[in-house]
Amino acid sequence: MSTLRELVPADLFKFNSIVFDPFVEGYHMDFYLRKMIQNPKLCQVAVAPDGRLIGLLVSTHGVSKNEKFKNEIGKDFRPTYGHISLLAVAADYRRLGLATCLMGQFKEIVERNGDWYVDLYVRSSNVTAVQLYESLGFIKYCWLPFFYENEHGYELRMPLCRDVERKSLKGITKNRFYWLHQVLYALFKEFLKGLKALFFW
Ligand SMILES: CC(C)(COP(=O)(O)OP(=O)(O)OC[C@H]1O[C@@H](n2cnc3c(N)ncnc32)[C@H](O)[C@@H]1OP(=O)(O)O)[C@@H](O)C(=O)NCCC(=O)NCCS
Repeated sequence: MSTLRELVPADLFKFNSIVFDPFVEGYHMDFYLRKMIQNPKLCQVAVAPDGRLIGLLVSTHGVSKNEKFKNEIGKDFRPTYGHISLLAVAADYRRLGLATCLMGQFKEIVERNGDWYVDLYVRSSNVTAVQLYESLGFIKYCWLPFFYENEHGYELRMPLCRDVERKSLKGITKNRFYWLHQVLYALFKEFLKGLKALFFW
């Protein structure tokens, strides 16, 4: 039986088998250390009976800067939310409910904290992860063209119990224009890159 516990600095030397996956974003050591110090309870690992690390969830706690959301709720209101930076399960322990278990523990903490919603970013080609998140109640909040170096992404959100009227999902329709702006920006960047290559070859 596997167990869940908080991530500790010594784990950073043992989790290679989990984080060396093309769908897992690579972060520096100081990123993990900062998260561990800021919110130790929101950084969890799953440990196999033989002591091997088999699952990892790194998340944090934030205050929304989303102006649209703020205006929906009230001028001076800044809703708190949970943000998942990394979720991964060792290849030989997948499809056993481990990610669901880590997410369940995470949700319990953010609910207890009185947060309004949870969000995360995912590659559009990561069908498995999208399926997992959708099965847990996440909704595609917006499409993010060129969010990753070589592909597009999605921002997924899940309103929590405190957000009774699901106001954290309010931006969905408005984001149609948001992605258009992102596409134009990315094309402009590519254009500048092309010009640079042409003149500084
Ligand atoms: C995505 C990932 C974390 C899922 O972990 P897991 O422990 O296998 O997930 P669970 O066993 O809890 O699966 C829960 C649900 O997710 C969906 N799911 C998980 N793996 C799936 C797969 N290979 N194909 C289709 N659906 C899948 C299913 O709906 C599943 O429910 P079910 O088993 O009752 O059908 C794991 O595959 C992984 O580490 N992938 C690489 C890293 C990654 O993509 N992280 C997410 C980055 S945002």
